[in-house]
Parts: sequence; structure tokens; C-alpha cells
Amino acid sequence: MKKDNFFITTPIYYPSGQPHMGHAYSSILADVFARFYRNDNCKVFFLTGTDEHGLKIQRAAEKKSLAPIDYCNKLSEVFKDLTKKLNLSNDDFIRTTEKRHYIAVNDLWNRLVKSGDIYLSKYKGWYSVSDEAYYDSGEILDKKGKKFSSFSGSPVEWVEEDSFFFKLSSWQKKLLEFYKKNEKFILPISRRNEVINFVESGLKDLSVSRTSFTWGIKVPENDSHVIYVWLDALTNYLSALNFPNTDDELYKKYWPASLHVIGKDILRFHAIYWPAFLLAANIEPPKRVFSHGWILSGDEKMSKSKGNILNPLEIVDTYGIDELRYYLMKEVSHGSDGNISLESLKRCINSDLANNYGNLCQRIFSFIKNNCQNKVIKTKNISDADKKLIEQTKVLTRDLRKEMNNQNLNNYIKSVINISFLTNKYINDEEPWKLRKVNIEKMNNILHIALDQIAKISILLNPIIPIASTKVMDALNISAESKNLSFLDNQSIITDEIIIKELKVLFKKIT
Ligand code: MSP
Repeated sequence: MKKDNFFITTPIYYPSGQPHMGHAYSSILADVFARFYRNDNCKVFFLTGTDEHGLKIQRAAEKKSLAPIDYCNKLSEVFKDLTKKLNLSNDDFIRTTEKRHYIAVNDLWNRLVKSGDIYLSKYKGWYSVSDEAYYDSGEILDKKGKKFSSFSGSPVEWVEEDSFFFKLSSWQKKLLEFYKKNEKFILPISRRNEVINFVESGLKDLSVSRTSFTWGIKVPENDSHVIYVWLDALTNYLSALNFPNTDDELYKKYWPASLHVIGKDILRFHAIYWPAFLLAANIEPPKRVFSHGWILSGDEKMSKSKGNILNPLEIVDTYGIDELRYYLMKEVSHGSDGNISLESLKRCINSDLANNYGNLCQRIFSFIKNNCQNKVIKTKNISDADKKLIEQTKVLTRDLRKEMNNQNLNNYIKSVINISFLTNKYINDEEPWKLRKVNIEKMNNILHIALDQIAKISILLNPIIPIASTKVMDALNISAESKNLSFLDNQSIITDEIIIKELKVLFKKIT
């Protein structure tokens, strides 16, 4: 069967300030999808990077008395380190200050000029530097004389300057047709509805250049303007594939993008502006924008300005990266906002990783080491209990690909951890330790089934907890060809006669 190619992206980070849990969450989520499709024998290109232009970065650099590029060179490294710390499997890390990106942005701009979608006028209105977004007067709140965006809560300032505009208004109808034709372009559905309502309520032309500062990509042939940072930033998804060279192997293989994973705060840019720019430039829009909710602390969005940050780097150092990845993926509901706290992190690690999956692996491996000299042989006599477990596992795995294809990662994890729970229960009920002296064959069979279950669970959990699951797969001596999801198509993973290696404790219980 021919497998699809997957181009999966995270939002490229603003390198202003330190990485926080929101960044970690968005990136890990995208990484899980990328790893899953690789494990399903698909070709995957997974991209992340830094979004380095615009007033926000210019001001952050000024605050540190640095030239913007020096500031970005420094901070971009911090985010590159983050990708390592989070164990992201990105194939590339793009910076919007790279030459390849300038080339792509210039080309896209010229296409929009050529198609007649850009004109020169004057912008008068509200702008939020921290969101790098324009807001209508209907979206502004007044708090003690200061103005804020009612959408994001960020401060806004009044702007009046010459600007090029993109004829977004003329794309309203075509965008609505596009959403209708591509029902799953925006997921979850609640976000899709939000976007459709917004577009139906009318789109105004969009200011796509600024003249009051200089830190950005210059408008071709008019260098008093810099290109609006969102038009610039969104193009990273093309520049990483060597656009405008549409004959390039990467471009041919991976465009249109399969999945942009983004937070709900940047949905408008990805689900409205981005497809409109692309349609205008005669480039096929991406297939999917998946918009996750915010990570909250108490009831507030976790952000530096609110000072309520759980630092991902500290969590990784204290509890481990697999632990953080699992916690964020399992406990934060991907469609809506999710509260996180140290208490729930500890609870989650203990109950699912230490007591459930970790315990299952440890008890089976040490039993086999102590009683079978590390060797287990499959036998042909299958009991009703064996059949029941195998059947339950089949039921729980049946829809896993579908869940992933719809970004229902919470459901996916629930099913997988349930398989681990059922396998632990099977061992408790079957009591192989009682068979040691009376029925070696049956004992072997139970252990073989348990190992097979552990193999399946490890492969399924691999995108989420790559380090621990790989240790288990290695200890099971699973061949390279079998470390993938083909068991979902009934291929076997472990051999009939299996010799295991030592497995050290995977997850320590946190007290
Ligand atoms: N630079 C833009 C993205 C440009 S993509 C062409 C940007 N950068 S960001 O650094 O501010 O955010 C990166 C990602 O982190 C976004 O998906 C954003 O939604 C996500 N989060 C930032 N804070 C968040 C939470 N508190 N919770 C969850 N994710 C949030 O936006």
C-alpha cells in the first residue's frame, strides 16, 4: 500500500524571552504526530524554527541594547536547545533571517503583486506588538484609559502609516468555499465553526507592510516598507521546502503541508490569512490546521507577562523528558484549554508510567530473568483468558490510526494505557508464578503473551515517550523491521523464541 508523505510543522517561536510551557506543548504535540507517521512507515518532514522579524523582536533587542540580528542569533540558539531538550525529531530548524527564507518571501510577495492582490494605501487603527496583530475598534477594551485587545488581552497601540494592503475582502467567498470543500481543514470542529463565523461576518483588507520601523524583510522595490511579520513568518513553511523552486524534491514531496499544529491564539493567521495568501498566489493551501487550546495555570493562560509559568526546562531536569511529554499529551485536552500543575504531573507519572506501563515491564522482565534465564518460548495452547486479552487489545487498537489522523491524541493515549492496564490485570489473574513448578508450558505462554503486549504498547507509546519505549523495545530484541506499526496489520513483532536483555527501572515513583 502506498503511504502518504507528511509535512508537519510547529509554529516557529518568537525568540523573545525564555521558552515556556506553551511552546513546549505546541512542539511536543507536533512531534508526536511526526513520530507516529514515521513509525507507520510514512515519509515525514517535521519542521520548527524561529520567527525573528517585526516590532516585537526589534523592541526586545533594543531593551538589551543589541542589534536585532545579534539578539536573534543568541536567542534562536536558546530555542534550538529547547528542541533538543524536548527530544523533538525535527528534520530542519528554519530561521526567518536566513537567505532561503528571504528568497521565498520575496517570491510570494511578487506573486501577490502580480495577481493584483496588493495595493498601496494608509493604515489607521489598532496594533498589538506582542501579538503582532491588527485589531478592529470592535475588538478593543478600555481599562483605566489603557487599550487592550478583547481577543487576547494584550495591550494595543494606535498606528497611522503608509502601508501596502492585501485584498483579503475579495477572498471571503472563496475562503468559505474552500472550508466547505475541505471539511477537515480546521480541527477541532469548534475552531472551524469559529473561523467560519468570523469570515462570514466580513473580512477587511489586511495591512501587509509597515513603515514605522525597519526590522523585517523589505518590500521588493520599495524599501521604506517592511513586510508584515505574519506574511513573512507564515512563508517559513514554504521556504523550508526550497520554494520558489517548485521542482525541488522537498517541495514536490511535501507541499501542500499535511498538518500545521498551532495554538488557538494564532488560528486567524493560519486558517484565514495563510490560505488566502496561498490561493491568491496560486499555491495549494495546506491540508490541515490543528488548533490546540491554551495551557492554563489556575484559570489563566500561562505566560511570562502573567508570571504563572511552570518552566519546561526545570520540569525536564527534575522529572525527565518522557515524563513531561506524557503528562502534557495525556492530561491536556487537545481541543480545549487545560490546567496543569505539579501535583497533577506527579499523579500522572505515578499512575500511568510508574505503576502501570513501567510496572508491567519491570515485573515481567524480572520474573523472566529470575525464573527463565531470560528465555521464553511461545506454545500453541491458547486459553480463554489469552484469547480475551488478545481480542480486547484488537478492539482497543482498531481505531488508533483514525484517532491520530484526526489529532485525537487523548483518545489514542487512553486506549493504549488501557491495554497496559488490562495486561497487568491478566498477569494478576493468571498468576504465572504459581505455574513455575506445575505447568512450565502454560507459564511460558502467559509470559510470551505478556511480552507481545509490552511490545505493542511500547511501539504505540513510542511517539510520546521515545526514550523509555526504545529501551523496552531494545530489551525485547525487536528487529528494526518490526519496530513500527505494521502489527496493526497483523504482522508479528516478537519472535516465538525470545531472549530478553536486562531492563532497568523505567520510571521512578515520585513521592
Ligand atoms: N511566532 C508565532 C508563530 C508563527 S508561525 C508562522 C508565535 N510564536 S510563539 O512563540 O508566541 O508561540 C509558539 C506556540 O506556542 C504557538 O502555537 C502558541 O499558540 C503556543 N503557545 C504560547 N503560549 C501558550 C499557552 N499558554 N498554551 C498553549 N500554547 C500556547 O505565535
